[in-house]
Amino acid sequence: MKMFDVYPINDVTIVKGEGSWVWDDKGNKYLDMYGGHAVISIGHSHPAYVNAITDQIHKLGFYSNSVVIELQATLAEKLGKLSSKNDYQLFMCNSGAEANENALKLASFHNGRKKVVAFKGAFHGRTSLAVACTDNPAIVAPVNETPNVTFLPYNDIEALEAHFAKEGNEISSVIVEGIQGVGGIRVASREFLRAIRKQCDKYGAVYIADSVQCGCGRTGYYYSHDYAGVSADIYSMAKGIANGFPIGAIAICPKIAPKYGMLGTTFGGNHLACAGAIAVAEVIEKDKLMGNAAVMGDYIMSELKTIKGISDVRGRGLMIGIEFPFETAELRKKLLFEKKIFVGASGKNIIRLLPALNITKENADIFLEALRELMATNN
Ligand SMILES: Cc1ncc(COP(=O)(O)O)c(C=O)c1O
Repeated sequence: MKMFDVYPINDVTIVKGEGSWVWDDKGNKYLDMYGGHAVISIGHSHPAYVNAITDQIHKLGFYSNSVVIELQATLAEKLGKLSSKNDYQLFMCNSGAEANENALKLASFHNGRKKVVAFKGAFHGRTSLAVACTDNPAIVAPVNETPNVTFLPYNDIEALEAHFAKEGNEISSVIVEGIQGVGGIRVASREFLRAIRKQCDKYGAVYIADSVQCGCGRTGYYYSHDYAGVSADIYSMAKGIANGFPIGAIAICPKIAPKYGMLGTTFGGNHLACAGAIAVAEVIEKDKLMGNAAVMGDYIMSELKTIKGISDVRGRGLMIGIEFPFETAELRKKLLFEKKIFVGASGKNIIRLLPALNITKENADIFLEALRELMATNN
């Protein structure tokens, strides 16, 4: 059997990782400014993470959600503390799309409504309602199409208010990324997030903060949306929570009450995922990684702004977009194969940086120097 060929890949086989570095099967060492797509939060093969999962698998690999799993309560407590949301409730699943799917479904159970507001440029995953809320018709199959989702312009308060004035009483939820990742590292303004909160309160809709990519401390806040000073009703998360062990989750505000059977999953909240996620939360807290993400993000962005030939630098913390006046495919190839540095992309003209939250200034400088050199030879 062959693999189903859906991923355009780089011809590199990564076999080992440590901190912000990875190695290929030929022994070449690469700086990882991409964090395996925002997944690596505390660095590759962090010893606390490796030990937690190794210890757990020696004790018990899996048992179902039909028994007490104390690790779940421990994780909920740690995430509540890290995000300053001790009174929220945690439900665990297995991926970002699944987290959003559960968030949208839960909102609809809560207020009995069907309509969802999403935004132009949004990416929320590839499962049925998550993909229907994603602004990319190429990945929406006919079976996923629904008249219940309306796309409004991102960061447009007037359009939001006008839409709520028209059909606010039918709107179940508003789903929004704090920083659009796939959409080009577009940061939601404070005023926009506050307006979403206000409209949701006025009309009884649920504010869903998709924190799958921008969450888990990456921007200096546990949830990037909280920069606006208002809380969402449901936060969805995945990528960074367990440093690569597959896990998704939603944090749910106290006013949304659970009922037996309303949500459920076989693998969600399993022992190994919880052990990995607890280790990550402990390292984030102990090593003050949210603070490091904020400081290093400011440093990288201010240095990028001094490089000639870049048209825009935006983002917050360690979720950074670098926009160029040309397509970046060639530049990314040079970074990877000549400079041995992984970066991400967002559209054709934007390079996306999503490094581990404990990246050092020395590591960041290696990237900045390499980019400076390539831009100098490009000009
Ligand atoms: C903002 C956002 N939401 C949801 C998802 C979907 O997550 P997953 O690929 O784990 O299903 C992604 C993935 O890139 C994402 O960036």
